[in-house]
Amino acid sequence: MDISSILQGGYAHPLSRKWQAKQQLTKSMFMYPIFITDDADASVEIPTLPGQRRWGVNKLEEFIGPLVKKGLESVILFGVPLSCVKDGRGTPADDESGPVILAIKKLRSLYPSLYIAVDVCLCEYTDHGHCGLLHSDGTINTEPSVQRIAEVAVNYAKAGAHCVAPSDMMDGRIKAIKRGLIDSGFGNKVTLMSYSAKFASSLYGPFRDAAGSAPSFGDRKCYQLPPAARGLAKRAIIRDANEGADIIMVKPSLPYLDIISDAATLTPDHPIACYQVSGEFAMIHAGARAGVYDLKTMAFESAESMVRAGAGLILSYFTPDFLEWL
Ligand code: PBG
Ligand code: ZN
Repeated sequence: MDISSILQGGYAHPLSRKWQAKQQLTKSMFMYPIFITDDADASVEIPTLPGQRRWGVNKLEEFIGPLVKKGLESVILFGVPLSCVKDGRGTPADDESGPVILAIKKLRSLYPSLYIAVDVCLCEYTDHGHCGLLHSDGTINTEPSVQRIAEVAVNYAKAGAHCVAPSDMMDGRIKAIKRGLIDSGFGNKVTLMSYSAKFASSLYGPFRDAAGSAPSFGDRKCYQLPPAARGLAKRAIIRDANEGADIIMVKPSLPYLDIISDAATLTPDHPIACYQVSGEFAMIHAGARAGVYDLKTMAFESAESMVRAGAGLILSYFTPDFLEWL
């Protein structure tokens, strides 16, 4: 046999196998998505998201405290308003006494070194359940949508968020948010993480159950990207980088590893994030329950593939598990 045919000597040992990764998984790569509801004492299981709950502000300490002890470094907050009055412009999104703003303040004071990102979108707060403001014919009204989303982002920054992450997919919102942050004195204090390449995926179902954010009519196909649209995704990534995004995110993750790789190539000087979304998490759990694979092995394989594709930050419901495993 030719000497160049032999590769197995290079990965015969568990340690030499580890060295085959360009980058190894670390705890700081994981950001934990958490759902905050407006019932301050709530701790309610989410049936389609194994092990995940909706939490009230008063329960955050018992929930997050043990995770911080295990090495949790960042969270991303999602508001789940149950008793507010929703309207066309998502007024409750930045209500001073709403769950998100209260949770930002609470977490900042409880855990000074915890990095707090906040999802910015209107769908949890609009009466129609869409991510922006609508024309009377039900189509997106871009300009006021972008202005409103920027206003909400600035209010989260004022409440103490370290990072604002718009998931709405309105055109031009990165520029408007960056402008808003600069004009309100947060330009040099707050990170802008863009859900740049967010696809119209079937994998958001458990999240929409959890957050009560399904659209009341139609779908999101006119603002989230078509799953086959690699070119559009590349254009969105470049656009958002040029509009001032500090972090570029791809979502979902596992079916879109090529897009993560594109992002790493197109914006090599930005951190690349990916969101292992609710449906991906539920799917991995369901497969494990069905005996298709071992849960932990599959969770590792999925996360390692994302890092291999180019991600340095993974938003994942597996975060508490990885804090145990790593
Ligand atoms: C809201 C939002 C969604 C997710 C994050 N932010 C749902 C959607 O766009 O319908 C999905 C997250 C997940 O599925 O875990 N715009
Ligand atoms: Zn939305």
